[in-house]
Amino acid sequence: MLILDGKIASAAVKAELLKENQSLKAAGKRTPHLAAILVGNSGASETYVASKVKNCEETGFDSSLIRFDDQVTESELLSKIKELNLNPTIDGILVQLPLPKHIDDEKIIEAIDPNKDVDGFHPMNIGRMVQGLDTFIPATPYGVLLMLEYFNIPTKGKHAVVVGRSNIVGRPMSILLSSEHPQGNAHVTLCHRHTPKAALDLIVKQADILVVAVGIPEFIKADIIKPGAVIIDVGITRVPDETAKKGFRIKGDVTYEEVSKVASAITPVPGGVGLMTIAGLLKNTMKAYKGHYYHN
Ligand code: GUN
Repeated sequence: MLILDGKIASAAVKAELLKENQSLKAAGKRTPHLAAILVGNSGASETYVASKVKNCEETGFDSSLIRFDDQVTESELLSKIKELNLNPTIDGILVQLPLPKHIDDEKIIEAIDPNKDVDGFHPMNIGRMVQGLDTFIPATPYGVLLMLEYFNIPTKGKHAVVVGRSNIVGRPMSILLSSEHPQGNAHVTLCHRHTPKAALDLIVKQADILVVAVGIPEFIKADIIKPGAVIIDVGITRVPDETAKKGFRIKGDVTYEEVSKVASAITPVPGGVGLMTIAGLLKNTMKAYKGHYYHN
């Protein structure tokens, strides 16, 4: 059984990006700059954004963290995005989701210049991804593709089952796995909350590659896993636990201990897909920089 270790796979991606940034610095050029907008102080979002900023530092990217309290108005956020869109030294912009209820996520995402949309959430970039055109692939599905590539997991002609249809993970993942590229060409079944449980069990049982992104701790149990399947667990849920130092533990969507006895490969949680998401984001930021016509 192979552990698809996100630390190892992301370190390879990060080492390459660090080298590129060092060459840029040595040539006297400016380095790519990511701007992250964080609204409110949700513990999970704080952790994710802090990790994105830290990874920028480790790999030679510039970064700015722009904070708003959760009372911020939509128009204040929109004017900050406009300012970042126009700033030639900012290459990538991300707005950490979820946003407070009074803010329309779609309006915010659509305000980001598609050339700086390193999360790949803008409808223009999603449309380009669906058509197989060059684009920013959303960071988490991109991270999964990078993981499959790093560990040489074949996908062509395999049955890939994706559980969860979110705009951030499940939906783009299902499209990417079925598309024409080295980590694609799978035949894909997408299951979601309206898939009857009995059908879900039968479909998951046929998965050569199973990607689970539902945000329900230990939703998938070992009895419905096909022996030898490759398991990609995207879930990162904080489960209260008084015995843990922080008062919670991170749980995936798959029962790791049992499933790892049946699978041929599995991503751990934490230490799996989460780290690859950041690798995907950094690669997108480098891509935004390179496609940026101001950069000399
Ligand atoms: N919230 C959960 N995942 C993501 C992500 O990949 N990007 C952003 N911006 N917010 C998220």
